[in-house]
Order: sequence, then structure tokens, then C-alpha cells
Amino acid sequence: MYLPRIAILISGTGSNMEVILKACITGELPAEVSFVGSDNINAKGLDTASALGAQTRVFFYKRDGRKAAEEAISMAVRETETDWIILAGFMKVLSPEFVRKFPDKIINIHPAMLPSFPGAHGIRDAWEAKADHTGVTVHIVDEEVDHGRILAQERVDILPEDTLETLEERIHRVEHRIYKETLIKHFLENPISIEDREE
Ligand code: GAR
Repeated sequence: MYLPRIAILISGTGSNMEVILKACITGELPAEVSFVGSDNINAKGLDTASALGAQTRVFFYKRDGRKAAEEAISMAVRETETDWIILAGFMKVLSPEFVRKFPDKIINIHPAMLPSFPGAHGIRDAWEAKADHTGVTVHIVDEEVDHGRILAQERVDILPEDTLETLEERIHRVEHRIYKETLIKHFLENPISIEDREE
């Protein structure tokens, strides 16, 4: 059995990435971060990742177009012998062609109870819809957006005293716990074998 190697893709703050990377460093999450990648060269999370000693990569969607950027991600994944692609606030939609190259190997976190409130503004959409609850979902990525087999889901009530900011804070707190816990369990249940490495 191998220590799984994970690439974490981000677009901005990278707070989920930071929790996962730190858990890998301490050994709480038995995995090794092969690189932290971003479509945004100015993502704050890239500095956080470098400061913690992780390799970082930037994928130039605007300059090169989605096809070339995704090819660069695939190459980086292969080169670094990455086993799992972990999306942590990566705001580009991955093409079906890309997803098909890594079946069941891409995992995403979404700040809502999917299938409710998919998209780029899950928290705000639930808030504006005046829903009485929302939540967090960790799922395998399939060819549809914010869709695929659910690995974990946790409800977060929207309280009368909430503001959008306090709701965001509570959701992020749940995300930081549930993503790490779910990955620990998922990697344990789906160990990387010698055949995976030789593919
Ligand atoms: C997180 O809330 C994550 O669930 C969300 O972006 C945020 C990134 O925060 N992802 C999506 O909305 C995907 N559809 P972070 O950069 O601080 O981890």
C-alpha cells in the first residue's frame, strides 16, 4: 500500500487547501501533497502553500484556453504521479473529457446540500432564497457540474440571527472539518495499489 499522492486545485483564499495540506504535513491525513495548482496566479492560497513547503503550479486558462490549461493539469498530474485530484474552491468547470481521464479520482467540496444550490455562489444563493438550512457536500466529480456520488454531507441551519457573513463563517468551519475527515476515510477505504501506480 502506498501513501496516496494528492494534487489540490484552488482559485482563491485556499482555506480548505490549507487545512488539508497541514493535515498531510502532520500525518493526520495519510497522504502526500504532490502540488497545489491554481488557475489564478494571484490566488492567496498559492503563497500559503509555498510557505508551507508545497510545490505550486499555475494553469493559464485565460492565456492558453481551457483545452491547453487542462492538458497542462493532466501533464502535471501524470508527471508527479498524483493519485487524487482534490478541488478546494477551484472555480473552473472541468470538461467532460478531462473528468473521463480520471474516473472517480476527482473529489470536490461544495458549500451547499447538493443537489440544492449548485454553482459558484452556493452560500449566497441559499441565503437569498431564504432557505431555513443549507450545508456542505463532499462528492466525487462526474461529468456534470457540482454533481456526482456524495461521500459526505452535513446540514447547517440558517439561524434568524445570521448575517450572510456569520453563515459563511459557520459553513467554512464545517467544510474544514468535513473535508479532512472525509478524505481520511475515503483514502483508507480506497487504497492505492501497485497496479494504480503502474498504469
Ligand atoms: C469554499 O467554500 C468551497 O466550498 C467553494 O469555494 C470556497 C473556497 O474557499 N467551492 C465552490 O463553490 C465550488 N462550486 P477556500 O478557497 O477558502 O477553500
